[in-house]
Amino acid sequence: MAPTIANKPLLTDLVAQTGQVPLSHVRPVGDRPDLASVDNDSGAGIPLIDLKKLNGPERRQVVEAIGRACESDGFFMVTNHGIPAGVVEGMLRVAREFFHLPESERLKCYSDDPKKAIRLSTSFNVRTEKVSNWRDFLRLHCYPLESFVDQWPSNPPSFRQVVGTYATEARALALRLLEAISESLGLERSHMVAAMGKHAQHMAVNYYPPCPQPELTYGLPGHKDPNAITLLLQDGVSGLQVQRGDRWVAVNPVPGALVINIGDQMQVCFVLKLLPFALLVVKDYRNLLLLAGHADEQICRRRRLTSSNNILQALSNDRYKSVLHRVIVNSESERISVPTFYCPSPDAVIEPADVLVDGDAHPVAYRPFTYQEYYDEFWNMGLQSASCLDQFRPG
Ligand code: OGA
Ligand code: NI
Repeated sequence: MAPTIANKPLLTDLVAQTGQVPLSHVRPVGDRPDLASVDNDSGAGIPLIDLKKLNGPERRQVVEAIGRACESDGFFMVTNHGIPAGVVEGMLRVAREFFHLPESERLKCYSDDPKKAIRLSTSFNVRTEKVSNWRDFLRLHCYPLESFVDQWPSNPPSFRQVVGTYATEARALALRLLEAISESLGLERSHMVAAMGKHAQHMAVNYYPPCPQPELTYGLPGHKDPNAITLLLQDGVSGLQVQRGDRWVAVNPVPGALVINIGDQMQVCFVLKLLPFALLVVKDYRNLLLLAGHADEQICRRRRLTSSNNILQALSNDRYKSVLHRVIVNSESERISVPTFYCPSPDAVIEPADVLVDGDAHPVAYRPFTYQEYYDEFWNMGLQSASCLDQFRPG
């Protein structure tokens, strides 16, 4: 007997069977992409930064360009990023091969449990969301590599070797970018890297099948990434859009370039640059320091916190920021993207520094939490425009 639609956990197989957008994937009117109003002008100025000179005498200029890009856009693209073209091509090739495997083979990796370190799934979180997204994805924890690689798919046969090489290269690039970002804020080069505990690295391999009616659904609706920094590899097909003002701007692929964006954890870390000026004039600084965690306690201790003004949130939001982005799909081609999410380790404790908590006068604004808790909340809340910081106020 032919399987029924309900037996198709993955979108790829569902759409192969039905050839239309199932009701489960149709967004309510008013929550659809409005494709006609998108700014498609080749990225409309998303900065393109050449990293070639990052390790030479002109490092300062490159660092400043990265700082400006973080400040003005939260998104930028990098060329000469150091990941060999063959490694990038291999990654995309093996990703495509994986998603073209027979259904029975792919389903061996299927799980709808966001807590699993390695899984193939669909949409975002089918356990909690009302409308599904036009995406299947493979999620892989990849640092430390040796802790996870043996659980990765073994088909295609080259998967572990090819993806492992890409993940290692992507991590090296993430560390270089974190160093440059630290410097661009006037911090020690190692500051960000040190503030993230033992570190973690996740990869998604996103597969967006062609969609017969792209105006009805999203690959991914508007969201901010919960981690520190994201490195996105996309194939040649457009789909990523970034919010700028009240418009959505297409970030069309540039051959050889990767897209970099700032995540929620990083947005708060950036407040550190403002501390020397801002702590003297800001009352509500605790809200912003919460994610800075232990590494910055020293800085806080050294400063007297006196006055009342809540401009710091606004200041930090206007500087380096975690920016809303989304993915739309198209009726012509499948699309593959591979974001590397670089993050604090799950056990990194995020809490306001002691010095900022002062009984009734300055009650703690957020309860301490681990990055793991933040991350779980991200998956539970579903994708939405707000980041989930508000969930971490004291009960
Ligand atoms: C993500 C994401 C963008 C893309 O997976 O968080 O934003 O182009 N992906 O697939
Ligand atoms: Ni994202």
